Amino acid sequence: MLITSEELIQATFHFFLGTLSFFLIFFILRAQGKKKFLKLNELQTLRKKNLWHEKSPLIVTKITRETHNINIFHLKRKDEAQFPFFKAGQFLSFQIGNNPQLIRSYSLVSNSNQRNEIQIAVKKIPGGIGSQWFHSLHVGDLVLAYAPQGHFYDTQFASQARLYVAGGIGITPLYSMITSHLNHQANFPIYLFYGVRTAQDLAFHVPLTHLAKEHFHFHYFPILADNDENKELTQGVITGPFIQKLYPHWKEAVVFMCGPEGLTHSLSDFFLKNGFPKDRIFLEKFSNPSTFNLEQIPDDPLPILWENQKLQYNTKVNLLTFLEQNGFNPPFACRVGVCGSCKHKALGQTLMATTSGLTPQEQAQGYILTCVAYPLSPIEFEETT
Ligand SMILES: Cc1cc2nc3c(=O)[nH]c(=O)nc-3n(C[C@H](O)[C@H](O)[C@H](O)COP(=O)(O)OP(=O)(O)OC[C@H]3O[C@@H](n4cnc5c(N)ncnc54)[C@H](O)[C@@H]3O)c2cc1C
Ligand code: FES
Repeated sequence: MLITSEELIQATFHFFLGTLSFFLIFFILRAQGKKKFLKLNELQTLRKKNLWHEKSPLIVTKITRETHNINIFHLKRKDEAQFPFFKAGQFLSFQIGNNPQLIRSYSLVSNSNQRNEIQIAVKKIPGGIGSQWFHSLHVGDLVLAYAPQGHFYDTQFASQARLYVAGGIGITPLYSMITSHLNHQANFPIYLFYGVRTAQDLAFHVPLTHLAKEHFHFHYFPILADNDENKELTQGVITGPFIQKLYPHWKEAVVFMCGPEGLTHSLSDFFLKNGFPKDRIFLEKFSNPSTFNLEQIPDDPLPILWENQKLQYNTKVNLLTFLEQNGFNPPFACRVGVCGSCKHKALGQTLMATTSGLTPQEQAQGYILTCVAYPLSPIEFEETT
């Protein structure tokens, strides 16, 4: 077959065009691949920077007085890394002084967008070891903290209305939730009922008042229990009917409460009696094991089955300490019921000083936190595989 010179020119032209396109596509893909690889590398470095091993050192960068007995502590990571992502409502657990066994938890009050610096607000408790220690700190001091933890957060309800109830220092996780929502331009109704004794006990009152003026869908009700000179603020206690009066559509909301048990339990009762679903009520309790009343533990000896060995519990220590005293080495980290490292499935009845380190699902599955659990009946620990 004979090829004309015109056809030869055309074929050569197409060959060159094809080769050029091939190289062009090859270089574009390679450049994109490199970019992707670089992005992956950057991400890995970022992740490495955010890694938080065991207890991490934080620097106190600023201390501000919020009320007569609450200070806000501004903290940065010593290695200048960003804080890992946390959810508004979560808390940090700190080593108190030089004692690795003495841990106290404090809710993050900063909103969850702030990752260079975080803040906690600590109320000074007369005779309280942890809170007094915090109030003795100065700018530049180092504190050791575990990574943010906790299951009391409300990111999962999209645009449903929120009803927040705080008592005293219980405002801290709720303040973080509210400011985080408002920062994310949330436009659902947000109601906050905040009870304290006197006007001088109100933390974050100035920013909350300001936010309520700025956002028409955020409603703020501070309530004072004691008779107060400040006649502008409502006096009384937070009750179900009181909430109903000021927020008639309260049944549309998801409820988050943090404060004294008397307040949160009586409101829970009211909500449930009025047909409100239990799975839309979330509570946080600011207890620590040092405040746990050991008189609730029965005096009679109780059998404990651990790793196929029968032990006799006739003491008043938590189950983690009891197992250690019997020569075992169960896992643990914080020893105050917040990190979840010591969780174990157990059959039997226990009393826990706090359940902060367990998800509601884990609680339903029968997990206990051995560091804060005390037996009320014979206990059989499930074997680990
Ligand atoms: C998940 C979680 C989040 C928390 N968030 C915060 C927070 O944001 N801000 C904050 O200030 N605290 C918070 N707490 C409480 C905090 O961890 C400590 O329990 C609190 O600071 C008291 O510890 P302490 O070492 O000073 O007192 P302790 O030495 O443990 O107790 C000393 C004495 O004070 C009494 N006492 C303890 N707590 C109280 C109390 N609340 N009111 C009255 N008497 C008390 C005890 O009965 C005891 O007699 C939180 C606790 C948890 C579990
Ligand atoms: S050791 Fe952290 S929850 Fe028990």
